[in-house]
Amino acid sequence: MTNRRQLKLGAVTMGAGGPGHHYLWLDPEIPGDASVNIKWYIEQARLAEAAKFDLIFIVDSQFITADSPPHYLNRLEPMTLLAALAVSTTHLGLVATMTTSYNDPFNLARRLASLELISGGRSGWNVVTSGDAGAAANFSREEHYDYDTRYARGLEFVRVAQGLWDSYEQDAFPRDRQARRFLDPTRQHALHHKGEHFTVAGPLNISRSPQGQPVIFQAGDSEQGRDLGATIGEGIFTHAPSIEAGQAFYREIKSRAAAKGRDRDHIIVMPGITVFVGDTDEQAREIERELQLADQDFDRSLAELGRPFAWHDFRQYDLDAPFPDVLHAAERGFRTQAEKIVKLARDRNFTLRQTVEFLSAPKPTPFVGSPQTVADILQRWLDERALDGANIHIGHPAQFRRFLDEVVPILRERGVFRAEYESGTLRGNLGIPVPENRYTATRLAAEREPAGVS
Ligand SMILES: Cc1cc2nc3c(=O)[nH]c(=O)nc-3n(C[C@H](O)[C@H](O)[C@H](O)COP(=O)(O)O)c2cc1C
Repeated sequence: MTNRRQLKLGAVTMGAGGPGHHYLWLDPEIPGDASVNIKWYIEQARLAEAAKFDLIFIVDSQFITADSPPHYLNRLEPMTLLAALAVSTTHLGLVATMTTSYNDPFNLARRLASLELISGGRSGWNVVTSGDAGAAANFSREEHYDYDTRYARGLEFVRVAQGLWDSYEQDAFPRDRQARRFLDPTRQHALHHKGEHFTVAGPLNISRSPQGQPVIFQAGDSEQGRDLGATIGEGIFTHAPSIEAGQAFYREIKSRAAAKGRDRDHIIVMPGITVFVGDTDEQAREIERELQLADQDFDRSLAELGRPFAWHDFRQYDLDAPFPDVLHAAERGFRTQAEKIVKLARDRNFTLRQTVEFLSAPKPTPFVGSPQTVADILQRWLDERALDGANIHIGHPAQFRRFLDEVVPILRERGVFRAEYESGTLRGNLGIPVPENRYTATRLAAEREPAGVS
């Protein structure tokens, strides 16, 4: 038995292959239709649950071109997918990416509240504002929102959803057969929200769940994105290329949240990581290089480079001229990522060809080695506050299995990872509190007040 701070673990799947993973789908263990194959998702979810993972995380977007990564071209809608996983699992958290730019708070809050009840309190929402500017054309808009508007709208959206999730207090439904009383109307509350972006009366037509409200995750990296994460994020998804970068982000996001009056320990920082496990450290490095090389394809990488720049077509430029001046195209796209690419090219004086080659070249990554080494690295990142948890990319099934079968038991033995679920809810396992219903809190405070005074 141990009181040490423990690692949280998530699984991320991009079935047939996400960005940069052009040829993952050639792995004979991955069904060609993995991204739309519910049996495959159920299998992954059950593997993660058998290993006592906290959650499975489903990424999403609403715009594709023929150059989009294989998984993006043909994939299941996250809430529909997670409803199926909810009845195929019992403890695993179910986290869906949904955009605040192309949804309405009432509909989205209702769908998540339904997943809450179906799963017994295991749902989470990765709040994104969408970097795929082309999505605008799929939602009757001329243009994607600019950064300030999309993040202001995102914050108001989440606040409205949280307001709607308080529509019913815990004891709203007495369902008293004797008294023929189904609802206690004093426990039902309309929100009457009128804001800059939304007008929503409420109440929501679904009751609270065992964890009160879905867990809110966030993954923005721009100034506006980090501010939103620090304001509403209970889990923060990020990338961490090195322990130093991880520590800097960890400190920064928790300080921002603390400055807003939030408890640092109620924000779980979880970078997405790819793990390569071998019998020895040397063999793991070989596996890493081999799998990265198998994904290499200059033409596909050149086409995919367009995504952060709102799918700007880089094939129109001379490959051997300096990296083109196209940051303006990213203004309403994944600007933060585009800025990093432009800075890299400028700092190193790269041509377009050199930029693509550099970005897609095999590179040593941090979580590589024998099972012992990978466990050591994860433990070090946890103890040195570069993360609270990690989202493991499922990727090649043989590698995911090695992580589950060989690394997780070492972490468990050391008390770094749980042996059993602490709870049946996602909040319970992540160790973050159930938000009190605002109307219950106000009523209880008012009830206490007169007694205190007399
Ligand atoms: C781990 C991680 C997962 C993400 N998943 C999604 C996703 O599924 N869908 C999406 O549209 N954006 C996703 N994003 C993008 C972010 O929401 C955000 O747009 C991106 O980090 C760029 O930050 P910025 O928009 O603040 O510039 C993800 C980002 C990270 C770091």
